[in-house]
Amino acid sequence: MKYLVIALLLAGSLSAQNKYTLDFKDTGVKIQPTMYGIFFEDINYGADGGLYAELVKNRSFEFDTPLMGWDQPGSDRHSLNEKSGYATVVRDDSKTNKNYIRVDVNNDSGYSLVNEGFFGMGIKAGASYDVSVWAAKAQGNISEVRFQLIDAAGNSIGESAVTLASKDWKQYPTVIKATKTEAKAKLKVTFSGKGSVLLDMVSMFPQDTWKGRKGGLRKDLVQKLYDLKPGFLRFPGGCIVEGRILEERYQWKKSVGKVDDRELLVNRWNKEFKHRPAPDYYQTFGLGFYEYFQLAEDLGASPLPILSCGMACQFNTGELVEMHDIDPYVQDALDLIEFANGDVSTKWGKLRSDMGHPKTFDLKFIGVGNEQWGPDYFERYKVFEKAIHGKYPNITIVSGSGPFPNGEYFDYGWKQLKDMKAQIVDEHYYNNPQWFKDNATRYDQYDRKGPKVFAGEYAAQSVAIASPDNKNNWDCALAEAAFMTGLERNAEVVNMCSYAPLFAHAEGWQWTPDLIWFNSLESYKTPNYYVQQLYSNNPGTDLISINDGGKPVTGKNGMFATAVVDKKTNEVIVKIVNTTASAQTSDINLKGKTLSGTATQTTLGNTNLSSENSFTSETLAPKTSEIKASGKNLNIGVPAYSMVVVRAKIK
Ligand code: AHR
Repeated sequence: MKYLVIALLLAGSLSAQNKYTLDFKDTGVKIQPTMYGIFFEDINYGADGGLYAELVKNRSFEFDTPLMGWDQPGSDRHSLNEKSGYATVVRDDSKTNKNYIRVDVNNDSGYSLVNEGFFGMGIKAGASYDVSVWAAKAQGNISEVRFQLIDAAGNSIGESAVTLASKDWKQYPTVIKATKTEAKAKLKVTFSGKGSVLLDMVSMFPQDTWKGRKGGLRKDLVQKLYDLKPGFLRFPGGCIVEGRILEERYQWKKSVGKVDDRELLVNRWNKEFKHRPAPDYYQTFGLGFYEYFQLAEDLGASPLPILSCGMACQFNTGELVEMHDIDPYVQDALDLIEFANGDVSTKWGKLRSDMGHPKTFDLKFIGVGNEQWGPDYFERYKVFEKAIHGKYPNITIVSGSGPFPNGEYFDYGWKQLKDMKAQIVDEHYYNNPQWFKDNATRYDQYDRKGPKVFAGEYAAQSVAIASPDNKNNWDCALAEAAFMTGLERNAEVVNMCSYAPLFAHAEGWQWTPDLIWFNSLESYKTPNYYVQQLYSNNPGTDLISINDGGKPVTGKNGMFATAVVDKKTNEVIVKIVNTTASAQTSDINLKGKTLSGTATQTTLGNTNLSSENSFTSETLAPKTSEIKASGKNLNIGVPAYSMVVVRAKIK
């Protein structure tokens, strides 16, 4: 008998029976439409090389090494006699896009410029690519610029040419249709004739972007965001907001207007981690604030921009703007609100309209600072708060509590923010899976009358914070699922939450774990993504109580639970997380309502906590089936190591 019990335990089939009550009494707590959102930062090549579908790296020769990413296989720069050709970088300091190149061609069949893309260009057979270049004939008889997609072996897999017409700068567009799928393609540029030609903004985008927009976003990646049905989109970060020094902070005004004129900036993640250097990581701002607002609109998400408060990243320099110089920073915030919400007759509202969006973007939130801490932050925050609410009393300000979920700075920050009657406080937690399970009760004691909480960045770390060995495994995702029952159960306090970071290029990442992984051609959803999705696709409208003898379900028998009703669909939604190696049942007794028939049960689980998804297999994906759900009793089987969501119609 002893052995039978052990065998059943090992097989994970010994069911513990849990008796819960689902109480339909009105708690008065609404689930905010913003509850489950997404956090976007240009880290891990999330924007350039990722979401922003530009395929040419260093398209306008603005990198610190201006020909980085460009090869000149036929060039002989150092020989006076037999030079096939070469490119010279020319700098015009009067412009925001300063550099262009002069290409001198001495031997038209021997010279080419080749762009390597971001870890290679992902090209799909049969797909069409918009290629363009700004060019001006300088001297000689160069008549044509030819663009060729080449595969890893150097063979052409599609080409097209433009005929040069003028000595004046002019943009020349053309289209290449690819004949082969290639993950590591390059773009080769060759010339007909001899002489000199000036080139700038050599660009190539797939035509098949999200919503088919020219120069748009990568479709598969946006689709994955869309499928999350996010309540908000936070952008542009993260530490990228702050910069390593103030000069490198994100300045939204430099990210709007004509794409070609947006001034390039180094990406602060390019040398943050010695173990993952990314010397070619820059920000073109092709994905800038207009595009972020547009993306939020496409996703049906509330835009949540975060701005520099005049403090550089405190993990780097912590450089501060003097208080007497803070006005331009504050003005940036006021102008941003005008850019999003202002009438077309206003300066910034007009720019939005000129860029193609006369309608306002309905901005409701703005974040002041990212992960700031200490008195300097609050000194600056107060100035922002006064100015923003002085002019825009209906905008909700998101403030920060620093990078850690507890400790001296955290406590100090919260005290300040409470005293100031801050509206919503951003908390960040990167910690081990056990921390997440232990913290499912974190918000139970938070003051219901104090500031609301934005759980703005969190992710369970399988090894240690920012360790390159962290995995997006089921252990971490399951712990996040358990933790999130505590976010939802405390929706009275927690109004927003988002996993971080969002994206990672499989060859170019700096930080792991991440929600969505991609390479030049494909992308996949992690188990953590599916946990987020199970919450964000089942948010409900009103919190109700699921309890075990009056107590919330927060870890007894390793079980965690939360419940909501959706008043729009007249359903009850129960989320249960089983963090143990044994299957368990939940016999739920309904108080106050009855169920009308069948329900759906969606289960995400795996008995192997180390399992992960990959480009070739999504082992961890939710499965939905129908279960019986009538009367006053709901019986839910919760497999070992799983998250279950049940949706049932209320009579
Ligand atoms: O998500 C990665 C980084 O973690 C963010 O940029 C920062 O806010 C946090 O420290």
